[in-house]
Amino acid sequence: LDNGLALQPTMGWLHWERFMCNTDCDRDPDNCISERLYMQMADVMVKEGWKEAGYEYVCIDDCWPSHQRDAQGRLQADPKRFPGGIKKLADYVHSKGLKLGIYADVGTKTCGGYPGSLGYYEADAQTFADWDVDLLKFDGCYMDWTLLGEGYINMSKALNKTGRSILYSCEWPLYEWPHQQPNYKAIRETCNHWRNFDDVYDSWSSVKSILAWTASHQDIIAPAAGPGGWNDPDMLVIGNFGLSHDQQESQMALWAIMAAPLLMSNDLRDICPRSKGLLQNRHIIAINQDPLGYQGYLTAKMDSFEVWEKRLSANRLAVAVLNTQEIGGARGFFLRAAPGWKICDPQCNVTQILPQYKELGVQNPHTKIVISVNPSGTALLTITPISSDSNTPYK
Ligand code: DGJ
Repeated sequence: LDNGLALQPTMGWLHWERFMCNTDCDRDPDNCISERLYMQMADVMVKEGWKEAGYEYVCIDDCWPSHQRDAQGRLQADPKRFPGGIKKLADYVHSKGLKLGIYADVGTKTCGGYPGSLGYYEADAQTFADWDVDLLKFDGCYMDWTLLGEGYINMSKALNKTGRSILYSCEWPLYEWPHQQPNYKAIRETCNHWRNFDDVYDSWSSVKSILAWTASHQDIIAPAAGPGGWNDPDMLVIGNFGLSHDQQESQMALWAIMAAPLLMSNDLRDICPRSKGLLQNRHIIAINQDPLGYQGYLTAKMDSFEVWEKRLSANRLAVAVLNTQEIGGARGFFLRAAPGWKICDPQCNVTQILPQYKELGVQNPHTKIVISVNPSGTALLTITPISSDSNTPYK
């Protein structure tokens, strides 16, 4: 969507995977969907280096509103859980130099059963603008699928009409795929990012299924990605319960390769240092945020390794090597076997980023380096070509 936003994949935090539809603030005040939760996340994001690393949007998902619209037909936040209201919360988040995201649904109800926006697109867009909201995640439950496109397009127009810059996160293709192949040109023109596939869960099988879906549809979806519009493989679940550290590295590396929005769903108030270091790794983030905005591809499968490659600016290349063999120990991968290795002719510079940062130095087409990858782990590298005349840049 050409609204000047999301020129690089969106970075932030989104409550859904970790906090779901927990509305029980009496029994679980620290984890229920309430203004406190977002204020605390915003505080931590500033204090603990998240904002500095690039994470900017604090996003509300389902279950924030009251079950009834107000007397004027406007959406309103649940008064008990959001006593200050969304405008105050937005002011708070803005005072921290961050941005606030909110959630609504294209149909008659949200997936959680709260009021949907069908019949209220302009009114709801105006409400969000009046509240100074910066991002809208627009879900697709309770909607006749033949009207999905029209609905998502009309909300996009309604947001634009408010005059406020509101990043627009869609789930249009996810809800359309069961019926027909979505029109990615129209989706890219309408949305800043879009979910294609199932919700992420806190498990390796879930992350694997998202990677498998992406790989099997990459020729359809990857060309649609670029500054202003991105495929959204759903939230990062790093720092939760279900992934081993190697698997967390795999999610981070591959979300970077896929030029995915980096929306964490975890508890930043309580996260282990290793997961934090991974999520804040500036080399990985730089791959994700590369200004050219190419989405990477699965380029080879061999010997139970998957090689994924993303074109970067200045003719560089990011390469992720995933060891899909979930038995045994670390296995060696011959770097020369990566399809992108051809940019090493005559020479290249190789930097390993995961699992450990290491300059692997100048290499050539005949190089013999082998990198070791743990089961369900990923090695992430960048390759910088050295052209034969690069030593004489001033000639
Ligand atoms: C389905 C979406 O795909 C999820 O990300 C989340 O927003 C839930 N709905 C909320 O009900």
